[in-house]
Amino acid sequence: MAQEAVYSPGLEGVIAGESEISRIDVKRNRLIIRGYDLVDFTEGGAAYEEVAYLLLFGALPTRAELDDFTQQLVSERQIPDPVMDILRQAPATAHPMSLLRTAVSALSFFDPDAEDNSHDANVRKAVRLLAKVPTMIMSGHRFAIGEEPVSPKDGLGHAANLLYMMRGSDPAGYEVAAMNVSLILYAEHGYNASAFAARVTASTMSDMHAAITTGIGTLAGPLHGGANEQAMAMLQEIGEASKGRQWVLDALAEKRKIMGFGHREYKSGDSRVPSLKQVGRDIAAAVGDTKWVELGDIVEETMISEKGIFPNVDFPCAYTYYMMKIPIPLYTPIFVASRIAGWAAHVIEQHDGNRLIRPDHIYTGPEGRAFEPVDQRR
Ligand SMILES: CC(C)(COP(=O)(O)OP(=O)(O)OC[C@H]1O[C@@H](n2cnc3c(N)ncnc32)[C@H](O)[C@@H]1OP(=O)(O)O)[C@@H](O)C(=O)NCCC(=O)NCCS
Repeated sequence: MAQEAVYSPGLEGVIAGESEISRIDVKRNRLIIRGYDLVDFTEGGAAYEEVAYLLLFGALPTRAELDDFTQQLVSERQIPDPVMDILRQAPATAHPMSLLRTAVSALSFFDPDAEDNSHDANVRKAVRLLAKVPTMIMSGHRFAIGEEPVSPKDGLGHAANLLYMMRGSDPAGYEVAAMNVSLILYAEHGYNASAFAARVTASTMSDMHAAITTGIGTLAGPLHGGANEQAMAMLQEIGEASKGRQWVLDALAEKRKIMGFGHREYKSGDSRVPSLKQVGRDIAAAVGDTKWVELGDIVEETMISEKGIFPNVDFPCAYTYYMMKIPIPLYTPIFVASRIAGWAAHVIEQHDGNRLIRPDHIYTGPEGRAFEPVDQRR
């Protein structure tokens, strides 16, 4: 233990490791992925697959490399029958995040590299997971609504195929564009709770599937990825823009947390929000319904003026997905379909230069208690 160790609740401000993958530039409100400003991807018309490639391989793909990578993903989309059976047999009430966590864990039984933690095996597993996770999410969803799964469609990219497997029909171009941007924005975000948890698992030299399963379990909570679902539940409860301000004031007076707001790192706005807000506006214009955008703006204005707390990426994501008629319980699983690339990059980096992550703590329990054999205890 370091001599002058300082305890920081929630590990706030603690430097817990080194990484070449990404950094949050708080001063400029920017997210930098392997040296690139993420906004340049959303504004430059990149496909999610380019960001995933950058995360896994460290450099942007050439056209030929991107085509090859996209083809690899397409060819790996099918999932083993026993994993499909797990999805089929799960109760329809199971949350899709619980289902996905279980399915990813089960997928390891069928991965030829399952327990190989070498760099190349890890990359192969990451590609397979990236390809198969959308199929597992949407197959589970189809079973839950009493329908058969829709097979992936070869000609469609990651974003389009995700929507296709959800509905069984080709999505509109504006929907694919919106999904693509949201996937780019969700792909990676430094030492957040789920990436850190995945790294802790990987640091014991446990394998990729175990670490990704950890990541999914950690992302599910409402203080992390689960916030996008909670934010939409809140917007539905408020119902209309005219009630937005008072609803937020009442909730704050009751010391309730407003989901989709606040962030451990960003204190004056989340770098990913402007891009996703614009996508929300584009979708609202395309579907001809500005209700949710207007309500979102009022909640946002109230939170900023009353508390100085800004929305995080989950807030505009919530109403954007809602306008795209994506079922709310799929919001966080779709986050996984993107973040799997970031987690995998962290697991690979951890394994490549591993040292066990094992922090210390301050003991606050009793001392000096005298043991009594069980029959003498009262
Ligand atoms: C993300 C989050 C967990 C960050 O937490 P943190 O860095 O530990 O910050 P805290 O929870 O300690 O918040 C600091 C203060 O801001 C307030 N605050 C933070 N987020 C808030 C929110 N969404 N609504 C209302 N108040 C909030 C806290 O109540 C606290 O106030 P206090 O000092 O008067 O007690 C927190 O902002 C939150 O719970 N947000 C809602 C969930 C969410 O959207 N998560 C997705 C994150 S991407």
